[in-house]
Order: sequence, then C-alpha cells, then structure tokens
Amino acid sequence: MPSKVSCLYLLTVVCWASALWYLSISRPTSTYVGHMAVPKRRIVKPSKNITFTNIRTRPLNPHTFEFIINEPKKCESITPFLVILISTTHKEFDARQAIRETWGDENTFSDIRILTIFLLGWNTDAVLNQMVEQESQIFHDIVVENFIDSYHNLTLKTLMGLRWVATFCPKAQYVMKTDSDIFVNMDNLIYKLLKPTTKPRRRYFTGYVIYGGPIRDMRSKWYMPRDVYPESKYPPFCSGTGYVFSADVAELIYKTSLHTRLLHLEDVYVGLCLRKLGIHPYQNNGFNHWKMAYSLCRYRRVITVHQISPEEMHRIWNDMSSKKHLRC
Ligand SMILES: *[C@@H]1O[C@H](CO)[C@@H](O)[C@H](O)[C@H]1NC(C)=O
Ligand SMILES: *[C@@H]1O[C@H](CO)[C@@H](O)[C@H](O)[C@H]1NC(C)=O
Repeated sequence: MPSKVSCLYLLTVVCWASALWYLSISRPTSTYVGHMAVPKRRIVKPSKNITFTNIRTRPLNPHTFEFIINEPKKCESITPFLVILISTTHKEFDARQAIRETWGDENTFSDIRILTIFLLGWNTDAVLNQMVEQESQIFHDIVVENFIDSYHNLTLKTLMGLRWVATFCPKAQYVMKTDSDIFVNMDNLIYKLLKPTTKPRRRYFTGYVIYGGPIRDMRSKWYMPRDVYPESKYPPFCSGTGYVFSADVAELIYKTSLHTRLLHLEDVYVGLCLRKLGIHPYQNNGFNHWKMAYSLCRYRRVITVHQISPEEMHRIWNDMSSKKHLRC
C-alpha cells in the first residue's frame, strides 16, 4: 500500500527534521554537554550511517595519565571492606610510615579487610621518584600516575585514587580519602559509622560538610578566579581532610569528572561532581578538619583529627591502644 509507505516515510522525515532542529538548538554555548539527547520516538532507522560522534564534544577533563607505579592485584584475592586512599607527597616518608604502623595498619582487625593506598604524582626530582619506587617495592601500598605532583594538582591525585578503586577494586564496600597529617579513629569509622554487619549503602557520601563560596582574594591559598568559577556559592562539599563513601561512588565521580572542568580545590571539585550526580553529602561531626589537643576521651569520640605529626600519631596510637580497658 503505497500511501502507508509514504506516510511512514513522511513521519520519519518529520521526526528526523525535528531531531536535527532539537540538536541544533541544544548545541552547547559553553563547552560542556552532558548526555546527548537522541530522540526516542524514531520510527524507522535511517539507512544512512548517522552517528552523533561528530557533535559529541571531547571530554573536558580527559585524565590521560598513566599509572607508573601500580598495585593492580591488591584486590584480586581479597574484597576489602574499606579502601583508604591517602594523599601524600614524596618527602613524607615518615608520615607514611607512621600511618602504616598506626591507624593505617591493614592487620589491625582480624575480621575486617582494610587496604591502605598512598597516592602520589610524578616528581620533578628524579631522586625522590627513585626513593618512592624503592619504598613501593618494600610495602606495595603506593600508586603513582605521571602527572606532576604539586599542590595545584591535588585534584588529579584524588581522581587517580577514584580511578584506581573503580578499575582495580570495584567490589570494595567503602572508600575513605584522607591526607597524611590526619589521625583516624578506625574503631569509630568502622564500627560506629560504617557498621560492617548492616546492609551496604550505595550512593553514600559523608564527611564534614562545608557550605561555602569562592574566595576572590588572590593572596589566599584557596583563591578561586572568577573566570574559572563564576558562581557565588560552591555546592555542599566535604572537607578534603577526610571523607568516606560507598565504593560505587568512586566510578560515578571519576566518570563525571571527565566532563567537568577541573578545579584545583580537590574537595570543592568532588562536591561539584556530587551535585551533578544528585548525591548529597551527609554531615558527620566526627570528622574534625582542625587540630584538637590530645586527650584519650576526646579522641575516642572522633573519626578524624587534622594536623597530626608522625610523632604525635605514634604517641596517640600507643596511648589509645594501651588504655582500651579504661572508661571515660
Ligand atoms: C558508522 O560510522 C561510524 C563512525 O564513522 C563507524 O565507526 C561505524 O563503523 C559505521 N557503521 C556502519 C554500520 O557503517
Ligand atoms: C599538573 O600536572 C600536569 C600534568 O603533568 C602538568 O602539565 C601541570 O603543569 C601540573 N600543574 C602544576 C600546577 O604543577
């Protein structure tokens, strides 16, 4: 029946014409586009090979770095309950060692699998790279990508950690990202917050939530130029000194980051990705992003404390471990 065929043909043409019109008006004015809207109510597939590859924009933040030190098999035989990603710099040998010997010790709990991974970039000083390489051969807990290690590249370090979890340890249950000068009360983190006996959460993110906006003072460590981030408020974000999330979020953030303009403020940037994902971070007062003088009872209530030197870390750990029987 020719009339039906031509009718169908007409519909197809109309549908494609409107699809092309839609795409032309939805062409981005900025460089960002999320998912391309392809019309769903297509009736007949066009015979021509039309793909949208020509109008899909390149990733804004392609993260084209390579692992130059890696531990790809860490999760092959075990499925960790918690992966701890610790942002660190080359010279912090003492801090890494203090963490390995105190709260980051993977053998602290007999029944809970913990993985401690230190994150580093590439140093411009070859000797430091060699020293880290040797350290890695001893402890097998260091992951390095070939971006230049600097304060301004901290976001890349976090993204590397998320990529590592998504690629090599996707079955882990939870992930913590923290820094090398943080004391972590692992008992509270594991038994009070994450509770291994309860149903694993998904799309979960917690830490000390900050509601802030960009600092436009160029002298500040947190200076944010207006042309890089024009909005007057940041989305809620967790202080980078310590945040915890269900492991599914690692891949979600990493993939979102590929289409999100890089900001050097690592925690703000993670907050931006969370907003795009529709994940709201939960506030938890146990995450202290400031220094707190040590007292046994005070430290028994926290999850993190900031600005702890390697010596203090040992002292605090020893004191808390030897006084487990004491009540507060
Ligand atoms: C259609 O075009 C794309 C991109 O040019 C190509 O990769 C793909 O193989 C083509 N498919 C067919 C069926 O010709
Ligand atoms: C960050 O790393 C990239 C890739 O190695 C490098 O090109 C850039 O200069 C680094 N940025 C800073 C501020 O060091």
